[in-house]
Amino acid sequence: MNIAVLTSGGDAPGMNAAVRAVVRSAESLGHHVYGVKDGYQGLIDDDMILLDHQSVSGMLSSGGTFLGTARVPKFHDVAYQKKAIEHMKKRDIEALIAIGGDGTYRGAMDLSKLGFKVIGLPGTIDNDIAGTDYTIGFSTAVETIVDALDKLRDTSQSHQRCSIVEVMGRSCGDLALFAGICGGAEFIVTPENPVKKEDIIETLKKHKEKGRRHAIIVVTENMFDVHALAKEITELSGFASRATVLGYIQRGGHPDSEDRILASRMGTYATELLNDGIHGVVVGIRDSQMVHLPFANVVGFPRPKNPLYKLYKKIA
Ligand code: F6P
Repeated sequence: MNIAVLTSGGDAPGMNAAVRAVVRSAESLGHHVYGVKDGYQGLIDDDMILLDHQSVSGMLSSGGTFLGTARVPKFHDVAYQKKAIEHMKKRDIEALIAIGGDGTYRGAMDLSKLGFKVIGLPGTIDNDIAGTDYTIGFSTAVETIVDALDKLRDTSQSHQRCSIVEVMGRSCGDLALFAGICGGAEFIVTPENPVKKEDIIETLKKHKEKGRRHAIIVVTENMFDVHALAKEITELSGFASRATVLGYIQRGGHPDSEDRILASRMGTYATELLNDGIHGVVVGIRDSQMVHLPFANVVGFPRPKNPLYKLYKKIA
């Protein structure tokens, strides 16, 4: 069987390791793999290359995605989806493995509805995909944020300041939650755990009165204008405050060991599913086990609120 693989949406550490696992496990089952350049754009443009064992050498540890990625809104249009299928069929490609987040899954589900064999792999730092405990790239991004929090705490403590740290996650607070717990944040503000700015300021005033030297606030993007919040905290709480927006450094870098293992397991599991004639599903990890669920059970479904919020509230 000829299988195509693509990475789409925001790049995430471990995407390359997943492609490597797809290529090598597919080869060992006697299949051939085409790498599609720049996500769905490469399917539209007929831009794909044959990959083999050697062409994914060194990819286990590399960040970003060597295939390239893109956000391609026009792929919602069925005409482009049909063109994509036509380009794959021309090469006798029977199935596609699409690695990415929710937007990637929507494109994959559309191709599946048109009768093409597709499997989705969760690759996004946001950890915002239903049906899986973790997504590829999340663990590395948490490590990156924790490293930044540790450094910011040194300066906050030295200067008796309050650091506000804006992290990514779109509408999912898992990056802020996990990194905030690991970094000992005083406040974790996320879509699942919104906190009013007045309450933050009141609590900071009390902390100041009790003689606390510093505070860290981790905020999911789009919750606040963090620079304006820093100004208000400085004026009203007694703590001088500065905001740091971590931005794209959260997406880059070598995948950590957890992401390398997760990506290797998921990539291999996906090719084994195709080999067994299973498609139209997304791969996940639940309680350390590989699982697969139909697209329709995952796409557009929110994740339940993480139980770790209870832990954070007890130890913040
Ligand atoms: O999905 C990953 C992510 O980094 C989100 O956390 C963020 O909201 C979004 O992508 C940013 O996307 P872009 O790089 O296209 O601006």
